[in-house]
Amino acid sequence: MASDIRQLPQWKQLDADFAGFDSFSLKEALSQPSNRAQQFSLEAAGLFADFSKTLVTPEILNHLLDLAEARGLEKQMAALRSGQPINNTENRQVLHYLLRANEADVPDQLKAQFKAVQAARQQLETVSSQINDGTLVGATGKPFTDVVHIGIGGSYLGPKMMMEALQPYQRPGIKLHFVANICATDIHSTLSELNPETTLVIVASKTFTTLETMQNANTAKAWLADGLNVNKQKIAQHFYAVTASPDNARKWGIVEGNILPFWDWVGGRYSAMSSIGLALAIGLGYGNVEKVLAGAREMDQHFFTAPMNQNMPVMMAMLGIWYINFYGRDVLCIAPYDERLRSLPAYLQQLEMESNGKSVTKDGQPIDYPTCPTIFGEAGTNCQHSYFQLLHQSPEFIPVDFIVTLDQPQGESEHHEWLVANAVAQAKALMEGRQPDPSDSLAAHKAMPGNRPSHTFVLDDLSPERLGALIALYEHKVYVQSIIWDINAFDQWGVELGKIISKQVHAGFSDDAVAKTMDASTQQLMKRFKQARKN
Ligand code: F6P
Repeated sequence: MASDIRQLPQWKQLDADFAGFDSFSLKEALSQPSNRAQQFSLEAAGLFADFSKTLVTPEILNHLLDLAEARGLEKQMAALRSGQPINNTENRQVLHYLLRANEADVPDQLKAQFKAVQAARQQLETVSSQINDGTLVGATGKPFTDVVHIGIGGSYLGPKMMMEALQPYQRPGIKLHFVANICATDIHSTLSELNPETTLVIVASKTFTTLETMQNANTAKAWLADGLNVNKQKIAQHFYAVTASPDNARKWGIVEGNILPFWDWVGGRYSAMSSIGLALAIGLGYGNVEKVLAGAREMDQHFFTAPMNQNMPVMMAMLGIWYINFYGRDVLCIAPYDERLRSLPAYLQQLEMESNGKSVTKDGQPIDYPTCPTIFGEAGTNCQHSYFQLLHQSPEFIPVDFIVTLDQPQGESEHHEWLVANAVAQAKALMEGRQPDPSDSLAAHKAMPGNRPSHTFVLDDLSPERLGALIALYEHKVYVQSIIWDINAFDQWGVELGKIISKQVHAGFSDDAVAKTMDASTQQLMKRFKQARKN
C-alpha cells in the first residue's frame, strides 16, 4: 500500500532528519578541513561521481540506505538479475543487462535467452560489416553511401544520442541519418539530400506498428520506388528491420534475412544496446559497439556487487529520493558539459519519465507522494545562457547532474579548459551563492542564496566504454528509485490514450459524424485545420 512506505520507521527517521536540517551549510561542510569531498565520491567503470555538493550528512546518507534496505532493494536487484517477471503488468522479465552480459555472468535459467543475444550480436556484426564492405548493395548494384534509421522513442533516442556522442569514432564512408517525427519536415529534409540508389533504410520498431515510424517508413518506401524504378523485390534490398515483432515486419515487406531481432523482455527505452544499434554498428564498426557493451557490463557488475554505500547507481538514486520526497523537489536538470552529449537530456527524459512517471504502486494502489522528477537539460555552456538564471536565483533549488568529460577530440585545449572551468564554476556558484555588500543598492537583486546541491560525474573520456557505463548508470538509478516508490518502471500505459484519440481526431477530419462526437474545444481546433486544408 502506498501509505505504508511513509509509515516505515526508516521513512519517518528521514522525515525527522529533514525537520532538523535547515541549518546545514554545504559551503561550511566543504570549507572545513574535512574529508567530505573524498567521503562523498565514488569511482566505477571509468566514471568518477562527486556527490559532496549534496545536501546530506553522512548520517542522513546512512538513513537513506536504511530506507533502501527496508524496501528490499537487494532482493529486487537479485530479482532483476535472475529474470523474475518484475514487469508485473505485462508479466515480462526485464533483461536489458543480458544484452551486454558475458556468458559467465548469466544464470542457468537465462542461458537460452543469452544464446539468442549472442546470435543477434553475431548477426549485427555480419550485417554491419557486409554493408560497410559493399558485400550488400542496393537494387542497382551500387554500394550504400547513406543509412537512414527510422524509429521513435526508445527506437530512436538511444542510437541517435550514442551516434552523436561517439562521432569521433565514426568510420569514413557511410553517412548516418536519424528520422523520428511524423512531421514531414523530418523525413523530407533527410531524403531530399540522398540518392535512392545508395540509400539503406533501417526501420527500428519493437512493435512494428508505431504510427510515426510506419508513416515515415511508407514515405521512404514510396521515395525509393519512385527513385529506383525497379521491381518490388529489389526495393526490399534497401530495407532492414529491427524488431521484436518479425511477423509485422514481414507483412510490411521486409525480407526474412533482413530482420534483426530483439525481444519483449527488453523495454523500448532500455534497448539502446540491442540490435536497435544497427546504424551504430555500421557507423562506428561493430568493434566499437562491443566496447559500449563492455563499459555497460562493467557498470552492471558494479551495481550488482558493490556494497550499497559504495554503489554509484544506488547513491545517486537515494540522493534523488531525498530531494524528491523530503524536499519536494521533483525536478532534475541534466547538464552535460560536452556538445557530443547534447542529446543525453532527451534520452534521459524518456528513460526516467516513461519509466517512473507513474502514480500507482505495482499492485495498483494510488500513490500520494511525488515520484519521477521532471527532467530537463541542455549541453553546457549553452544552458548557462538560458535557464541557469533560474537555477541560481529561483525561490526553490533544482538539483543538477553535471557531466564532464576529460578528453577533447579536436585537440582544442583552450576550449576544453574553459568548458570544464565553467562546469566546475557553476557547481561552485550554486553551492556558495553570493552575499553582496548591503550598501550596494542592487544587493537584493544580486544576492544568490547558495547551498544549492549538484552532483558532478567525470568521465575519463567519452569513449564507447564510458558511454556504455553512463547509460547503465542511469538505467540502474531509475530501477532503484522505482523500488523505493513501489512502481513498475517497465510499462507505459499512460501513452496509450493519446494514440487512440489521435486516430479518432484523424477520422474526424474526413467524417463530420465523428467530429461531432468531440468536445467543443477539440471541434474548434479540428475546424481550423479543416478550413486551412480547404483554402
Ligand atoms: O509511445 C511510447 C513507445 O511505446 C515507447 O515506449 C517506445 O520506445 C516507442 O513508443 C516506440 O515504440 P516501437 O519501438 O514499438 O516503435
